[in-house]
Amino acid sequence: MNTLFMHCRPGFEGEACAEISEHAAALGVAGYAKGKAGSACAEFVCFDAEGPATLMARLRFMQLIFPRQWARGGYLALPETDRISVLLEALAAYPVCGSLWLEVMDTNDGKELSTFCRKFEAPLRKALINAGRLEEGGNGPRLLLTFVSGREVFAGIAPANNSAMWPMGIPRLKFPREAPSRSTLKLEEAWHHFIPREQWDERLNSDMTGVDLGASPGGWTYQLVRRGMLVTAIDNGPMAQSLMDTGLVRHLMADGFTYVPKPPVDWMVCDIVEKPARNAALLETWLGEGYCREAVVNLKLPMKQRYAEVRRLLERIEEGFKARKVKVQIGCKQLYFDREEVTCHLRRLDK
Ligand SMILES: C[S@@+](CC[C@H](N)C(=O)[O-])C[C@H]1O[C@@H](n2cnc3c(N)ncnc32)[C@H](O)[C@@H]1O
Repeated sequence: MNTLFMHCRPGFEGEACAEISEHAAALGVAGYAKGKAGSACAEFVCFDAEGPATLMARLRFMQLIFPRQWARGGYLALPETDRISVLLEALAAYPVCGSLWLEVMDTNDGKELSTFCRKFEAPLRKALINAGRLEEGGNGPRLLLTFVSGREVFAGIAPANNSAMWPMGIPRLKFPREAPSRSTLKLEEAWHHFIPREQWDERLNSDMTGVDLGASPGGWTYQLVRRGMLVTAIDNGPMAQSLMDTGLVRHLMADGFTYVPKPPVDWMVCDIVEKPARNAALLETWLGEGYCREAVVNLKLPMKQRYAEVRRLLERIEEGFKARKVKVQIGCKQLYFDREEVTCHLRRLDK
């Protein structure tokens, strides 16, 4: 149980390693991080068997930027046949779990294994329940079995309320046919990630107004309109006619970096592909000046030192708010629908 296993976007293993190493050092948990490029996973191997539990107890999964899922445990070798007996024996040392997810890595090899997992899941679940290792709906942690191959699995556990919302951290969102672009899913995922579902009606409702900077053709505007908001869409490019026909959208051909809403709005979202420092400054101005109360903005990642650069930008934004004496909650995540970028969510906490 000395390993903390993490899923991440393929190609971002170094970022997941850098991030967890920084947290482990700050918490005094000794160990080392490793992650093979392109493997879509990283590990933090602790020198002390209690290390992974300490990390999970002290960190909120939600606040990690690059890991998509995490679990603490260890690797198990599986035989060609009767894998279930071997798993049951090994899992006798684990706590009784409250749910079970079978996971694979987000790689082509992982995708090939998912058929095996689908077939294996039902008999395994039944065997675990019969052996008293799984009490579904109980208080136990989630059992996360990540299959590396048919012969090797990372058997881990994580608290259901302090780990990914979806298996492998991959949301099951259906592309709405009426949406004008696929990037609509990015904003929908951001809301799932940053806003508890029970707060959606209070924080995303038809009494609200929003501004979408860099809105064309309207995938993000579509999400705001779907919640009934009145939206000002800023872009020199065209907006989908279907959105204009709702009567809820005002389209302005203006520069997103100089536009100021009058009066202030509830929401600002921005998907302009720009230097991250420029988008970060935009966030500071909008929240700091009170132009909006909540915002979702994409930050494009640099080629190198991606984790260090994101941390630097977030610190700069935090310092800006401190200097202005405004209280703002800041979240940042590389969402599943993000590529070379991360998504920031900011919310003013003062009334
Ligand atoms: C990635 S696209 C946005 C896609 C949109 N979020 C959607 O879901 O359909 C970026 C947009 O930003 C716009 N853009 C770039 N620079 C801008 C600026 N300074 N002000 C306003 N819009 C800008 C581009 O015209 C482009 O339409």
